[in-house]
Amino acid sequence: MGEEKPLFARVAIIGLGLIGGSLACALRQRRLTGEVVGFDKRADELALAAELGVIDRASGSLAEAVQGSDLVVLAVPVRATRSVLEALKPYLDSDAVLTDVGSTKSSFVSDVRAVFGELSPRVIPGHPIAGSEKSGIRAANPELFSRHKVILTPAPDTNADALERLKSLWEGCGATVLTMSVDYHDEVLAATSHLPHLIAFSLVDTLAGEDENMDIFRYAAGGFRDFTRIAASDPVMWHDIFLSNRDAVLRVIDHFTHDLDQLRTAIASGDGATMLRVFSRAKAAREHFSKMLSGQAYVTTNSDKQVTFQLTPGGAITGDIRVPGDKSMSHRSIMLGALAEGITEVKGFLEGEDSLATLQAFRDMGVTIEGPDNGFVRIHGVGMQGLQRPRGPLYVGNSGTAMRLFAGLLAAQSFDSELTGDASLSKRPMGRVADPLRAMGAVIETAEGGRPPLKIRGGRTLTGIHYEMPVASAQVKSCLLLAGLYAEGVTSVTEPAPTRDHTERMLAGFGYHVHRDGATASVTGGGTLTACAIDVPADISSAAFFLVAASIAPGSDLVLRHVGMNPTRVGVINILQKMGANIEILEEREIGGEPVADLRVRSAELRGIDIPEDQVPLAIDEFPVLFIAAACAGGRTVLRGAEELRVKESDRIQVMADGLAAVGVETTVTPDGIVIDGGQPIGSGTVNSHGDHRIAMAFAVASLRATGPIKVEDCANVATSFPGFVELARQTGIQITAEGSE
Ligand code: S3P
Repeated sequence: MGEEKPLFARVAIIGLGLIGGSLACALRQRRLTGEVVGFDKRADELALAAELGVIDRASGSLAEAVQGSDLVVLAVPVRATRSVLEALKPYLDSDAVLTDVGSTKSSFVSDVRAVFGELSPRVIPGHPIAGSEKSGIRAANPELFSRHKVILTPAPDTNADALERLKSLWEGCGATVLTMSVDYHDEVLAATSHLPHLIAFSLVDTLAGEDENMDIFRYAAGGFRDFTRIAASDPVMWHDIFLSNRDAVLRVIDHFTHDLDQLRTAIASGDGATMLRVFSRAKAAREHFSKMLSGQAYVTTNSDKQVTFQLTPGGAITGDIRVPGDKSMSHRSIMLGALAEGITEVKGFLEGEDSLATLQAFRDMGVTIEGPDNGFVRIHGVGMQGLQRPRGPLYVGNSGTAMRLFAGLLAAQSFDSELTGDASLSKRPMGRVADPLRAMGAVIETAEGGRPPLKIRGGRTLTGIHYEMPVASAQVKSCLLLAGLYAEGVTSVTEPAPTRDHTERMLAGFGYHVHRDGATASVTGGGTLTACAIDVPADISSAAFFLVAASIAPGSDLVLRHVGMNPTRVGVINILQKMGANIEILEEREIGGEPVADLRVRSAELRGIDIPEDQVPLAIDEFPVLFIAAACAGGRTVLRGAEELRVKESDRIQVMADGLAAVGVETTVTPDGIVIDGGQPIGSGTVNSHGDHRIAMAFAVASLRATGPIKVEDCANVATSFPGFVELARQTGIQITAEGSE
């Protein structure tokens, strides 16, 4: 700390067990405070603490420890809290901060109230989520809190300066500090810590009790050892915890015994489907948890991750590749498969975070889904009325498609639900689906300005409407058609320009008739879906990066296999061909109701064009990389009628213009488009992708024609639509590395 003033001049640690001792060591070693004095009523432990150098000084009495200390940390057994508080009360300085390290927080608060009559703004309950089966001062470890979480549960009137200093103290010990309410803390801990300990104690005791010689443990393997490790924890401490957190623990025990009983029934009656559902949902949750622990990207953790692309200029694009599966179709395959009668098998499913979020949401609603395993997914359909109420909000990460399509589906269910998303999705407009759904009779609450989260009331009867969409949006159309499956009568949607029609095609594949009349698609509610097999082609939106890459990089020759060529998606090919790109369409075929082809693309001199407005909805996701093509083309490219780009994962017009400017390419932004004069050299620079996957990948492609290195920041979300992008880009000739990935 050098000459800086310590966070606290004198800290008294009352109770020198594992936690108190470790905190004392950490504070001393890291010089976070002035003097660290300790007190423990066990004289031998106290003497040992001084001898081991865990504390600066052993206090002869509680009074001596507390008096004159500006931070008092209670690290005594939870059940001893009240008597220790009573004993220290007369000696506590009026401006001292008082905290604790106990595992239950409402009991601490009620002890403080009982002793002091109130909870002063300088009392801040705390709980480091760290420990070990070892106990006692000899086990004290200054690193115990490093990379662990510490929960503080301040009250609304807690002294802000005291809270800040206490936070800094724990952070100084290497911990991450979270704050939450006392009640929430106790609920969460009852579920994630207290119940598992209870089960471990109980299971080991049951087995030991059945066999006096404990012989069966000889046959126990790693699974048993891992599962029961925590049964070796301190019995007294745990007895304290269960007595102190009684109510929250009882609630979670009831929940667990109910679910265990369900599994018992399933085993007794040979109900394999229930077992498979529970086990696969648990497996997915456990894998998600492992990824969270190891800091890897997955739906809920992704936004915290910082990934930076480093690009070396130049290169040619060659090879024969297949990009991952189509995102739009992957979402829809899970949705319709879940609602169908029977088992739907999907090949080529996109294992990106967006479609995985959809998959997880259906698991949360009780659907058994096996996989994904190399793009293979098996969905055990529950029928139109078979979804179950999820236990909490459905989190759909970065995915606008998931949120908007789910809104239609959930508005028609018998249960209430809530849809939430990440920071980017939370800014996107949802009124475009909430308004027409309300006209059908749905009850939906949004946050201000029609933004997420969406709170959807269940148990409503929906009625079919005719809707003229003000914007050309496949998500809005699909949302209403999905709601229409449940509505009384006919639901019809007219689009102002053609938008992707995967929902209509896939519904037909599941045996549900969709009527098409010019620009209007309609369904009659009340039908059923029949499971089928789905082969998801490679995503043309992901292929687009390589179409542009191979076009702009001299000496390129690349084949892209099995690309989805739905006529509502091929705008990028039409536009690039108009710009002079050399793209050959080979082996055109139809697979599962969707056209597919192989594409061969070679370098070409591109020229600037006026992008035909009718191509805009057909290439809506490809503009970031098309802007790079335009920057490399000879002459001027003008885009109009594309205001929708401003409400995608980022404002794609502005963010692209800013990114291009950062590498020395000036453009003119208009309200509904952009003007790009091609041929300006692409220089070196740092681009902020604003967490938008397609912006990040577009600038990776730009490096092929750059004169110096490019750095692209905030790229973690590339995993939403294109897992494995970096490897595939490198394999084909883009000189890219990703920093900050696992
Ligand atoms: C999608 C529709 C489009 C597109 C998005 C996927 C879909 O959005 O941009 O990436 O799967 O229906 P809009 O419907 O908002 O245009």
